[in-house]
Amino acid sequence: MNGERARRSRRLLLSLPLIALAACATKSPSILSPKGPAARTASSIWWPMVWVATAVTIFVVAMGAYGVVRGRRIREEDISREVSWGDRFILIAGLGVTGAILIGFFVFSVARSVSLARAEPGTQITVIGHDWWWEVRYANGAVTANEIHIPAGERVNITLQSADVIHSLWVPELAPKIDLIPGRTTHVWFKADHPGEYRGQCAEYCGLQHAHMAFFVIADTPDAFAQWMSDMARPATAPATALAQQGQAVFLSNTCIGCHAIRGTAANGQLGPDLTHIATRQTIGAGTVPLTANDLATWITDPELFKPGVTMPPTTLTKDQLNALVTYLLGLGFPSP
Ligand code: CUA
Repeated sequence: MNGERARRSRRLLLSLPLIALAACATKSPSILSPKGPAARTASSIWWPMVWVATAVTIFVVAMGAYGVVRGRRIREEDISREVSWGDRFILIAGLGVTGAILIGFFVFSVARSVSLARAEPGTQITVIGHDWWWEVRYANGAVTANEIHIPAGERVNITLQSADVIHSLWVPELAPKIDLIPGRTTHVWFKADHPGEYRGQCAEYCGLQHAHMAFFVIADTPDAFAQWMSDMARPATAPATALAQQGQAVFLSNTCIGCHAIRGTAANGQLGPDLTHIATRQTIGAGTVPLTANDLATWITDPELFKPGVTMPPTTLTKDQLNALVTYLLGLGFPSP
């Protein structure tokens, strides 16, 4: 028994460096590789602070080392001798230099941050944080979840609200993080230099599934974005096949409609993500698993399998009902023009 336990902990210890390596190998978004002006401002504050902190650290370590070496050489009778500039040194280095660096950092970071607070026109998007997903609303009525489409090269102004607890919206490559606070409205803006996909993450601990509260910012060309936004605002496509029709009936006659909306149908629940064009999204459960037929079926029958603590309850359906429902949902792409 003990031997087995020892073997297991040895295996765990051996796998730790592997886990660390794997974490390094997957390229995670970094504030140090900004892809837009707001993030560049944040990293331009970070770098000088790192260099000054490095210089201070080197100086302090060097003084400590000097003290140790000198202490070894000193003679017994010298130990009690007063150092003439001792008090003055403590005052200058301890209070003067430290105070000047801290005040300097404060003034520098406030001056640099001014541009982050400046109001300017841009595409308006409202993002509402929920346990544990993101509701995304556009001025033209388009609603989606966990994917924020923006026009590349243009400014987007994001208004942030929370439906429950404090969350924090963070897209390291595009903007500094900003909290979503219940009962208050906060704002952030960013601009992506180029089209692309930028990973975002909730950056404020908000409960059991805080780690599974991811999202993606997808910067399209301005034309593609305009098309996307107008498609996203349209009602859902009617089910194309008999199976999909059956799936729609399953959706409308079950508890699904208590929480989810599908615009253009009788379903207008507001507690969970809007599913009008769910098939256009990449993931289920705010970046938890990719949107595939298999995972969607598992998610519907037992969402806690992927996301323990999730607010969505399990749904009991027959195999045929489930198959029809998944077919219907995966047919909810953009209507062809
Ligand atoms: Cu939402 Cu952490």
